[in-house]
Amino acid sequence: PNITFIDYQGAERAINAASGDTVMEVATSNDVPGIDADCGGACACATCHVYIDSAWVEVVGAAQDLESEMLEVAEGVEANSRLACQIVITDEMDGLIVKTPESQF
Ligand code: FES
Repeated sequence: PNITFIDYQGAERAINAASGDTVMEVATSNDVPGIDADCGGACACATCHVYIDSAWVEVVGAAQDLESEMLEVAEGVEANSRLACQIVITDEMDGLIVKTPESQF
């Protein structure tokens, strides 16, 4: 699936990702800036905070309990906020657009 990352200045990076990987893994292994992922994907740092493009919120789905708790410590959380390490990519996410927050640059 093709995933597009858009940074806070509007720069786009499209990555051809593998289903089963997380959005965080795709970003860090492709040097996409704006996702720090300090805890390595354990849902324990909230530095992989991203905004899901409005057209994709339903496909990606809502955060689970632990993720929602971690999001409370992230900056600038919105209704479409998710932690990228908790989003496992599926074939249905082909074309997904996520935005990275300025606070992670
Ligand atoms: Fe730490 Fe996602 S990488 S919460």
